[in-house]
Amino acid sequence: MASPSSQNHSDLFAGFSTAYKSFATEAIHVGQEPEQWKSMAVVPPISLSTTFKQLTPGNHAGYEYSRSGNPTRNCLETAVAALDGAKYCIAVASGLAATVTITHLLKSGDGIVCMDDVYGGTNRYFQRIATEGGLEVSFADFTKKELLKAALKANTKLVWIETPTNPTMKVVDIKACSELVHEYNKDIVVVVDNTFMSAYFQRPLALGADICMYSATKYMNGHSDVVMGLASMNRDDLYERLKFLQNALGCVPSPFDCFLCNRGLKTLHLRMERHFKNAMAAAKFLEADPRVERVVFPGLASHPQHEVMKKQCTGCPGMITFYIKGKLEHASAFLSNLKLFAIAESLGGYESLAEHP
Ligand SMILES: Cc1ncc(COP(=O)(O)O)c(C=O)c1O
Repeated sequence: MASPSSQNHSDLFAGFSTAYKSFATEAIHVGQEPEQWKSMAVVPPISLSTTFKQLTPGNHAGYEYSRSGNPTRNCLETAVAALDGAKYCIAVASGLAATVTITHLLKSGDGIVCMDDVYGGTNRYFQRIATEGGLEVSFADFTKKELLKAALKANTKLVWIETPTNPTMKVVDIKACSELVHEYNKDIVVVVDNTFMSAYFQRPLALGADICMYSATKYMNGHSDVVMGLASMNRDDLYERLKFLQNALGCVPSPFDCFLCNRGLKTLHLRMERHFKNAMAAAKFLEADPRVERVVFPGLASHPQHEVMKKQCTGCPGMITFYIKGKLEHASAFLSNLKLFAIAESLGGYESLAEHP
């Protein structure tokens, strides 16, 4: 395989959007101020206490009970909000908990329009649970704007974009879709599942989305040792409701996990650049191999939405989908003979994984 260092940095990022200003500095400093602790700890402490002493009855120093607010979680939420270019962020117990919490903005009879190819767990939640609660769910391929337009209805309250999609790596134009949806009805909440991109490579809020959510289990934490979800937003009304739901539904992450994810953010910029570099080398290698039928990697010019990717992203993450010539048995033989890649679900950690969906 070509050495990852064979492609220089500026060639790799040529044509992509400019990196967000001061990203690394913010990842390291925002929400981490030592002055917030009496000890002046430079690294935020893991605040395990479930409850906080009141100064006088009902009068507390910012925290009451750890489900409704926790100092370590607060450090993480403040940092992620900055990295998403957002006013607010809430952290929850998993990516799916973020999906569930956001969906609780709706009431029975409301409609969700979802990108047709999304993470299987999102699809399962919308189709098998949200519908039982009286929500109407439909799917459309948002890479074709006319299909999204046709799917919008008077009761549509939520539009769910995932880009790139898991696992077929379709790329949706966030700005074009957000504008189309908001022109139809400005009150429809546009959510972007930004899991595959991370805050370093894509800022959905700046492109017109109302909520940017993550499975932080992936790139945002980046070490395959935390299950967590995040949701960032600028709208005060959305934050107030989601903050209420975070506490009222109770799907909160542990302070220890918040500490780990907060730590993961400190190297996000470095990890993502290396993911891109390595994935580009792997994608080119695969594309040149006669035993490979097709490689789907948005960093390659051969990807159908490569231009959209360059326009709306500052780089390309490390996820590659490819089709081996032959049948399932050939794909299985390939996976079984991998030397360094573990056959495992998930993505976004420092290790290399491969799986057949
Ligand atoms: C794109 C995407 N969104 C959401 C999720 C769900 O996140 P979690 O596993 O943290 O609940 C996943 C999990 O793989 C995912 O890939």
